[in-house]
Amino acid sequence: MDPLSTLSFPTGAPQMSVDQGLVTAAHFRYIAEHCQGEDAFLQQLRHDAQAAEIPAISIGPLQATFVQILLRAARAKQVIEVGTLAGYSAISMARALPDDGCVRTIEIEPAHAAFAEAKVADSDVAGKVVVHCGSGQDILPTFESGSADAAFLDADKSGYATYLEECCRILKPGGLVMVDNAFAFGQLFYEDPTDREVPAVRAFNDHMAQHPGVDGIIVPFGDGMWVGATR
Ligand SMILES: C[S@@+](CC[C@H](N)C(=O)[O-])C[C@H]1O[C@@H](n2cnc3c(N)ncnc32)[C@H](O)[C@@H]1O
Repeated sequence: MDPLSTLSFPTGAPQMSVDQGLVTAAHFRYIAEHCQGEDAFLQQLRHDAQAAEIPAISIGPLQATFVQILLRAARAKQVIEVGTLAGYSAISMARALPDDGCVRTIEIEPAHAAFAEAKVADSDVAGKVVVHCGSGQDILPTFESGSADAAFLDADKSGYATYLEECCRILKPGGLVMVDNAFAFGQLFYEDPTDREVPAVRAFNDHMAQHPGVDGIIVPFGDGMWVGATR
């Protein structure tokens, strides 16, 4: 079942623009049709990643565009990411930064980190992305406090709460926080989810919603993405 096809707003919500009925998969297709797609480099990256047997679990072009707009609007220069995979999101984000900007991205799988490093080196943002090979739990604590403007979390869901605490330390006040997969791979409302990370996503969503240091909201793009700002 396509989770987007059943997405609706609470009927008790105030009479505002959101209380218009149903948002369907057709609306998301329409949004995709009205968004610039990915360029040849990122298409090739996706293709090469598949050939290298790297799982096809990167963000899509729609999300990448949305993240770039957020970064530009926030005038972000320094970005941190947990979960590099093949470098798709890191390269996309780096493109939204000024010339002296940088994405520090963390990847636990050495093969993914090496692939991403090679792609970054070939890209138009070579020098603007630093790949750290290791776990988010180990590497984030080495980043200086107040040294980043934005963070994108897209890795192991059981680590998200720890990563969020580290982000609150590393980001400047008003820093942009983006966290992927709030809809738990489409299984958020399943009684018996097959993906073992679903309980961790649910727990994180509850945690994020009540976090005293971050104002956030889930945006229904892709698999649901938290967008927030540190206080
Ligand atoms: C969904 S993918 C990231 C996709 C990437 N952000 C993109 O959109 O192009 C998740 C990645 O997180 C990595 N990962 C899993 N656990 C991790 C951890 N504890 N620390 C750092 N990376 C981790 C996985 O190896 C995988 O490459």
